[in-house]
Amino acid sequence: QELQLNLEEIEKGGFDHFMLKEIYEQPRAILDTYRGRLLAKEGIIRMAGIDQNMEKFLNANRIIIVACGTSWHAGLVAEYIFEDLARIPVEVEYASEFRYRNPVVTENDVLIAISQSGETADTLAAIKLAKEKGAFVFGVCNVVGSSIARETDAGAYTHAGPEIGVASTKAFTTQITVLTLLALKLAKAKGVFNSTRFHEYLTELEQIPAKVERALLTNPLVEIIAKVYKDSPNCLYLGRGYNFPVALEGALKLKEISYIHAEGYPAAEMKHGPIALIDEHMPVVVIATSKGHYEKIVSNIQEIKSRKGKIIAVVTEGDVQVRELADHVIEVPETLENLTPLLTTIPLQLLSYHIAVMRGCNVDQPRNLAKSVTVE
Ligand code: G6P
Repeated sequence: QELQLNLEEIEKGGFDHFMLKEIYEQPRAILDTYRGRLLAKEGIIRMAGIDQNMEKFLNANRIIIVACGTSWHAGLVAEYIFEDLARIPVEVEYASEFRYRNPVVTENDVLIAISQSGETADTLAAIKLAKEKGAFVFGVCNVVGSSIARETDAGAYTHAGPEIGVASTKAFTTQITVLTLLALKLAKAKGVFNSTRFHEYLTELEQIPAKVERALLTNPLVEIIAKVYKDSPNCLYLGRGYNFPVALEGALKLKEISYIHAEGYPAAEMKHGPIALIDEHMPVVVIATSKGHYEKIVSNIQEIKSRKGKIIAVVTEGDVQVRELADHVIEVPETLENLTPLLTTIPLQLLSYHIAVMRGCNVDQPRNLAKSVTVE
């Protein structure tokens, strides 16, 4: 038993929990994900699973993304990226809904299944259904040789390394990385992108690990903020555009490990319901980076402030406008709009982590949850 405990301590590499270790592994994990694939100097992205099936992607009427949990949130980010960069229509589905609703799927559709474990029962069933209907199925998995990796026609691994904490962290950012590479390849192949723009993305992607490292420097500040809100019964997360799925993921992280009721919402939808909940007791986490609907999100923040809600804002380094309105400001480095989720998600992971630790929760193995859900 003692040996077992020591082994676990060693595996945690000096961190108190696997989740924190995995949060801190993200710069490295993202680098491992694009290493050998992204060749910025040559101006190419090399991914065998895509190169060999390029025609399938280029001729697709649409891409259907199926996943569960955090992987579904990565799918939502991918929807924005695919449509924006590659101009291919995308639908994102919960695997459990897709498989039971008699979906219209044809051989002209491409289905992308996203799964950290590669064992999620609903995702696996959705893949089988799409294959029966003749769709080409592409997998984005972390666990090598997993059921989903074997069941799909082709795929790309995330190379995040083992993720032990039940709450998914590095799997999420590496899934987004793989899907971004895929979208960029398609954008280039379709001629939507000229090589200058393509190159701009490649060089910026190469900066992401260092920028994630900088986002991790917010940890002491996030810990202070966590102390203020650890006893809140509720928390609202708002974001727009690329950061709407990040808001969903931030809320999921908080409820998973701290058992605080949290909801993620597209910021503009706030006025259609959640605004009724806002008073001086409600913490609202708002992602308000400089690119993408900045002015609109500032006015959403004003609406929260006038109702005395407590504002925790994730902003771009050097922001001045939001700083004047928010109770707390967490800065992340500037990047291309499409890549902001890779940075904005970091402080939200840290926030849920610290709150859960302060509440005495079992961070790595939250109650009622499983790392891999192999039953429906
Ligand atoms: C479980 C895990 C989540 C995960 C989801 C999907 O609920 O607790 O962290 O996001 O399953 O898992 P997958 O392995 O398919 O990504």
